[in-house]
Amino acid sequence: METLTATQPKAAAQTDFLPLQGTDYVEFYVGNARQAAHFYKTAFGFQSLAYSGPETGNKETARYVIRQNKLTLMLTTPLRPNNRIADHIYKHGDGVKVIALKVEDATSAWKETTSRGGKSYMEPTTLQDENGRVVMSGIHTYGDTVHLFIERGDYNGVFMPGFKKWESNYNPPETGLLYVDHCVGNVGWNQMNPWVKFYEDVMGFRNILTFDDNDISTEYSALMSKVMSNGNGYVKFPINEPAEGKKKSQVEEYLDFYDGEGVQHCALATNDIVKTVTDLQSRGVEFLKIPASYYETVLERVGKIDEDLQPLQDLGILIDRDDEGYLLQIFSKPVEDRPTLFFEIIQRKGAKSFGKGNFKALFEALEKEQDARGNL
Ligand code: FE2
Repeated sequence: METLTATQPKAAAQTDFLPLQGTDYVEFYVGNARQAAHFYKTAFGFQSLAYSGPETGNKETARYVIRQNKLTLMLTTPLRPNNRIADHIYKHGDGVKVIALKVEDATSAWKETTSRGGKSYMEPTTLQDENGRVVMSGIHTYGDTVHLFIERGDYNGVFMPGFKKWESNYNPPETGLLYVDHCVGNVGWNQMNPWVKFYEDVMGFRNILTFDDNDISTEYSALMSKVMSNGNGYVKFPINEPAEGKKKSQVEEYLDFYDGEGVQHCALATNDIVKTVTDLQSRGVEFLKIPASYYETVLERVGKIDEDLQPLQDLGILIDRDDEGYLLQIFSKPVEDRPTLFFEIIQRKGAKSFGKGNFKALFEALEKEQDARGNL
């Protein structure tokens, strides 16, 4: 039964009080940023971009910035114990701290959001060097996660003031990853709607899709999800909460091991998922295994697609269709030892949705892993 509801945009007339130009970067707090950067270069094909640390006058942290097309990651580690970054890593393990959003005016973004109830994380702050200035500000969102607003103006340095170019003679080729398609937050029991309201009220987002526990449940476990989108659709944040099932929801497992709410996965877009995933697998990225039975019936469900089915099956790539087209997607295993953050690789061929038709196969695959960890 089709219970997917696409809600109508609210009277779209009002001007967007928080115009976003997309995701600027995603910052991870990690136990060892040097090694994490090596992993993302080796396994995912990111390129060295910028560095900040003792050599650049930063005595507190080491920060490595890596980039692939429009996708920028920052990997941050504290150099000493007993500070908020070290405490964050002790509590949560490696994970996403910041989803930074590109804006034209970081001061206005901060004023608009904090006046609507957003809790300030950083007042508008200007960073300046010989290459120009960057203004940033920020607010808290779910858990210990934050959104920074980044105003780059005509800044023409390598990344932002405080960073120097990171020159490396180790430069594995890219894998075709292009940009952040969406980032998903896992929130606690009954917290989905309050966070939906936060994104509506504070950031002017709207709820574009809703999945209830009938959509997303297996024999054992369930979750609920609402997808929030900003005005121009460049930034999309699905919000998940656990739902009651016979056994433990995957969202609960995340909340236990992350010790709170946080980013569950980031979806990275590609224009050639077969090529990208072949490459990622050969570099050691591990993906969830999908049973062969999925491929016996998938084309009956989604209709004709441009790709041959066999390579999709060999790689474990899932297919789904909505009114506007279809999409191809695959989910990695967690990229750290805690069963927390993972990545999705997605290729959209018209579809603007999130793979609802794959939820059951996907969650059964996830539960197998969860069971193997003794957490189901
Ligand atoms: Fe996703």
